[in-house]
Amino acid sequence: MFRSRLRVHTCKIVLITSMVWFAMDVAVIMYYSDCSTGSGWGCGRIESGMATSPREGRADHHKGRAIRNHQSEHEDLDLSGWHFDYPVGQLKRWEPRPTVPDHPGLPGEMGKPVRTPPGQEVLMKEKFKLNQFNLLASDSISLNRSLPDVRLEGCKSKNYPPLMPTTSIVIVFHNEAWSTLLRTVWSIIQRSPRPLLQEILLVDDASERECIDYLGLELEQYVKTLPVSVKVLRTVERSGLIRARLLGAKEVTGQVITFLDAHVECTEGWLEPLLARIAEDRTRVVCPIIDVISDETFEYVTASDMTWGGFNWKLNFRWYRVPQREMERRGGDRTQPLKTPTMAGGLFAIDKEYFEKIGRYDEGMDIWGGENLEMSFRIWQCGGTLEISPCSHVGHVFRDKSPYSFPGGVVNVVMKNSARVAEVWMDEWRDFFFEMNPELEGSYHSSFGRWWSNSSSLVGALGCLEVYGIDALVPAQTEALV
Ligand SMILES: *[C@@H]1O[C@H](CO)[C@@H](O)[C@H](O)[C@H]1NC(C)=O
Ligand SMILES: *[C@@H]1O[C@H](CO)[C@@H](O)[C@H](O)[C@H]1NC(C)=O
Repeated sequence: MFRSRLRVHTCKIVLITSMVWFAMDVAVIMYYSDCSTGSGWGCGRIESGMATSPREGRADHHKGRAIRNHQSEHEDLDLSGWHFDYPVGQLKRWEPRPTVPDHPGLPGEMGKPVRTPPGQEVLMKEKFKLNQFNLLASDSISLNRSLPDVRLEGCKSKNYPPLMPTTSIVIVFHNEAWSTLLRTVWSIIQRSPRPLLQEILLVDDASERECIDYLGLELEQYVKTLPVSVKVLRTVERSGLIRARLLGAKEVTGQVITFLDAHVECTEGWLEPLLARIAEDRTRVVCPIIDVISDETFEYVTASDMTWGGFNWKLNFRWYRVPQREMERRGGDRTQPLKTPTMAGGLFAIDKEYFEKIGRYDEGMDIWGGENLEMSFRIWQCGGTLEISPCSHVGHVFRDKSPYSFPGGVVNVVMKNSARVAEVWMDEWRDFFFEMNPELEGSYHSSFGRWWSNSSSLVGALGCLEVYGIDALVPAQTEALV
């Protein structure tokens, strides 16, 4: 009797002790496990920490993982002095690409202007109308044409991290010419370090029947022959730049999304400066310098590295001279990244997770226009940094006239998009916009609540708006305006 009671008692003690040890083990394991699975202790706090202190949270969050992965891979690399905002095991080694060879004598080589051959002026003018650029000239230039190295001397000798994240390039096109689209693709393939180039996603935003022949099956067959993974995606109906970009972004498998336009040419070393900035801090969004490819001659003309993006109170994007204080912040070194209030919009690289965290684009915007300011405000107000890297150059064919149709009229579309920007991101500063554009007050101002509550893409933005507010942004803006 006494004995059996003693046994029960002993059993209980043993059981309780084991349970206590078990509980302690669980606690210890959870404490030291990292957040990569999303279940580690404290991970929840960091994940939802966007609203408190995104930067500090993220840095701690990656440190543990980075060290562990480092030991298993890339052991032979000396990574001292480099800071990575990604687990090192996820980053890739890379080598710069060889310079694209020059073929003197061929049209447009080294970015030289192409002259219309005598007797073809009429044909040139006819073709010009199709895309609002000199198609005859474009078609005569090699898809692999050589370009001058337009970088500052200091850029050529810069050291970039030995490991960088991969990027997927997203390009939206609508009735694009074959030669400009494919020259864009070839310039990416030829001038991006192969291990860093995950894929190129071409999103056809409902190109019209005249273009279907070559932008349809022919394009799909052609991209299969390329040395890099290139996919063609198509919107079902005309969705506009923003929704088409979102369609592309959804398919991205690289760590960084690089948005480009469909008629650009990437120059030597264009990608490394963008990815290097993001490798160190995933909340940086980086634009290249946008050089000019002449719509008349396809000459490559370097743009100034002394301008940054601003806007006027009609919410039109404008370039302004970089103020002295920003030059001073960079220690007078023109190769240093420039913090810009806004971006032109066509070309930029952004970490994929960060893009999602800040709520991507405003899906309620139509066709084109205003989305670049919207994204700029979103980045600054969501704890990020928007930069121009003066060491990265991409040429872009600027056109005088948009060849696109804007259902509902161009002014209506752009103004409605701008009104959304004002309402969503500008707090009391929106009053300036509606002062300047009184005709919008009635039609758009009052429907603000409706957009706001109905737009899923704004949910992520709400959190950061509360924390940062427009004040973080506007001083830089207003200064850019004077
Ligand atoms: C571009 O150059 C690469 C490498 O030299 C070559 O394989 C490719 O066929 C060229 N593409 C075109 C369209 O000429
Ligand atoms: C709100 O969103 C739903 C579903 O996306 C859509 O059908 C509806 O028209 C939207 N309402 C307004 C007022 O925009």
